[in-house]
Amino acid sequence: MCGIVGYVGQKKALPILLNSLKALEYRGYDSAGIAYIKDKDIHIIKKQGKIKNLEQSLSIDEDTYMGIGHTRWATHGIPNEINAHPHKVGKITLVHNGIIENYEELRQELVKDGYTFKGETDTEVVAALIDKIYQKKHDMLKTLDKVTNKLEGTYAFGIICEDYPDTIYAIRKDSPLIIGVKDKDYFIASDVPAILNYTREYYLLEQGEVAVLNNTCTFYMKGQEINKELKSFEGDSSSVSKNGYDHFMMKEMMEEPDVLHKTVHHMKEESFTFMNYQSIDIVACGSAYHTGLVGKYLIEQYADIPVNVEVASEYRYKKFFPKKNHLVIVISQSGETADTLAALKLAKENNLDTLGIVNVKESSIAREADRVIYTMAGPEIAVATTKAYLAQVTTLSLLALKTAYEKNLMKKDEYEEILHSFDVGAVKIGKLLNKDYEKQAKKIYKKNDLFYLGRGLDYALAMEGSLKLKEISYLHSEAYASGELKHGTISLVEDGTPVISVMIDDHIRSKSVSNNKEVRARGGYVIAISNTELPNDSYDDLILIPQINDFVNPIMALIPMQMISYYVAKMRGCDIDKPKNLAKSVTVE
Ligand code: G6P
Repeated sequence: MCGIVGYVGQKKALPILLNSLKALEYRGYDSAGIAYIKDKDIHIIKKQGKIKNLEQSLSIDEDTYMGIGHTRWATHGIPNEINAHPHKVGKITLVHNGIIENYEELRQELVKDGYTFKGETDTEVVAALIDKIYQKKHDMLKTLDKVTNKLEGTYAFGIICEDYPDTIYAIRKDSPLIIGVKDKDYFIASDVPAILNYTREYYLLEQGEVAVLNNTCTFYMKGQEINKELKSFEGDSSSVSKNGYDHFMMKEMMEEPDVLHKTVHHMKEESFTFMNYQSIDIVACGSAYHTGLVGKYLIEQYADIPVNVEVASEYRYKKFFPKKNHLVIVISQSGETADTLAALKLAKENNLDTLGIVNVKESSIAREADRVIYTMAGPEIAVATTKAYLAQVTTLSLLALKTAYEKNLMKKDEYEEILHSFDVGAVKIGKLLNKDYEKQAKKIYKKNDLFYLGRGLDYALAMEGSLKLKEISYLHSEAYASGELKHGTISLVEDGTPVISVMIDDHIRSKSVSNNKEVRARGGYVIAISNTELPNDSYDDLILIPQINDFVNPIMALIPMQMISYYVAKMRGCDIDKPKNLAKSVTVE
């Protein structure tokens, strides 16, 4: 989703702004732009499509030492050059991440005041609003305070005012923004990877604060200067480079054994369990929602607690039934997903206990939840999540396991054996990652449709396998509960239709065997992912994965699904790390 960068300092600004924008490409975007100051004049260059289009229109060596940049993921108005940011109205130029909900009202008022608009964005309206207030107050701090009172919605803004051509202003509400610092160089960015080539030191801008960056960096709250704590990025900066792999996605899948180790180690130290809860809601979006479905199975089965899993965009608008001893878990890689954050706030307003399972440290969800457990995936750059999903599934599995033990539903020996088996799993997924999945991908990549089948836990996994395939290869795929297929959708199975059948759940495998046969009888080509041999007539291709136990098996199964998706996307010539229209961090609802 939209990415903001900004720089003011001692160095030439354009190479820095471009590099920082490239580091945010993973968030997803469809146009890009930069505004910079040269000889006190503002210059704005915007291009539709990839950052390389923007790069080609810039003279990179320009004598400019400050500017702001943006990658736009279209919300209000199509992705063209006019709607691309930065937007300039009067003396104000700005970039924006978020959505202004009352922009139509504001636009009408501003039109009455004589403002005209070139494009359709909410952002251009905010530029005009700031200009209008600034023309009266001639003071940017007072202006920004007034502006924030008038805006409804979510935002992070990087702002330049023509009267202060050496200064960048930044404000935010519900969309992330950090301020990077290195000697006399100052940066703004939506996310840490954007600044890692230059500095690891940064401030987190909080709601209501104004950052003013020029030859120094000052923060204000309601007009008063404030001190802030300087933070340091502790991760490994190699996580933002491909390290020799063709794609971040492949590099991140190859990190999965290590992520599994780290997650297990981290969870061994974690004291939180579901012991005190009688019911649980798990709320999330996309792959994180699928994590919830796997978690539901394990928590219900082993910890004996009923779990309701919902997508956050639905949960946040439904009737709410607060219950006693009820926990709401929100799961999010980015920690910034707007719907998940709203669901969390709703739970808190209803006085329910909340747990965030989050990958990005100090993200909004991590800071809002009563309790947070960090997943140990490290920065994930490819839009399609792999290692972070694995870390989420592992975290929930371990919470289910620990709760089962604490509730005396599992003996100590069994508990310890299962705990140890995660480390065995880490070695085994290393081997699974090195198997050949191109054979299966070749059978799939020219097709238009595919089905993923599974029952119970296998269905939860099939949903993620299906999402992974369609998000990066644009091949239509549908996940179906194996037993439900015959109620309509089997009519779509034709000669050669690929069907991936996930079959790791021992209790119901025989049922899935029958469903595979039904598909094969209609010409479907069945690729089975199983941890045991199957009857020969129940598959066309069998991917055998290790059989460990219910807690670790799901982690094994996701490796072939992710790998097949990767190779299908590669064979179809897709932009694997940055699939069209998708965003890594979805900060609008
Ligand atoms: C986007 C991403 C998905 C992700 C979902 C939830 O749609 O493309 O990969 O699963 O958002 O994101 P979160 O950061 O909350 O896990």
